[in-house]
Amino acid sequence: MTPRAHPAKLWIVGAGRTHGEAIELVPVASSVFGGSYRMKIREFSMEDYAEVYRLWHRSGLNLVPSDQPDEIEKKLARDPELFLVAEDEAGLIVGCVIGAWDGRRAWIYHICTDPDCQRLGVGAMLMEELEKRLIALGAIKINLLVRKQNIKGKQFYRKLGYDLQEEFDLMGKRFF
Ligand SMILES: CC(C)(COP(=O)(O)OP(=O)(O)OC[C@H]1O[C@@H](n2cnc3c(N)ncnc32)[C@H](O)[C@@H]1OP(=O)(O)O)[C@@H](O)C(=O)NCCC(=O)NCCS
Repeated sequence: MTPRAHPAKLWIVGAGRTHGEAIELVPVASSVFGGSYRMKIREFSMEDYAEVYRLWHRSGLNLVPSDQPDEIEKKLARDPELFLVAEDEAGLIVGCVIGAWDGRRAWIYHICTDPDCQRLGVGAMLMEELEKRLIALGAIKINLLVRKQNIKGKQFYRKLGYDLQEEFDLMGKRFF
């Protein structure tokens, strides 16, 4: 993705919301730039894969085998409405998040915002929409993993009401 200059901070607020459709977001006018910056949230499709993969890479996420196309197809077969992208007026994807719901817990993976678009509210907007969808499915708690050294990731999550669960250690077993 070609780096793009974005205006300084604009706070973006959501307007209408319809499950499964793009959500138009209306900007609050920037006192500095006075312009409008429109964005929408929509569901990911495999056609977005290459662009999203570049975005993951560009935003510094640690990419894992579960990010390969075959694995993403598995995820989409299960709950496609929980993989969201934020698209700007030019049609470029500037943020994304993967949610998951297993019937007991909700999980969040790989939230990221293009480095040129950070601190504009894109991440918060994605999380707000994903949380609404997870609650609608019946989730009463959301878990997520964040690397210990990812200070800004933790600051972001804290701002949105997430706490460190110090009573737990993560355990896992890899099959492949
Ligand atoms: C974490 C990340 C997704 C935040 O996205 P974003 O679109 O910039 O976030 P927002 O603009 O919605 O920020 C919402 C609030 O979170 C907090 N926040 C976000 N980034 C922050 C940072 N770098 N430092 C401190 N607080 C931060 C702020 O309180 C912010 O509100 P404010 O700007 O009004 O102060 C983005 O920095 C990113 O892509 N990081 C790399 C990938 C990553 O680490 N993902 C998370 C772990 S998997």
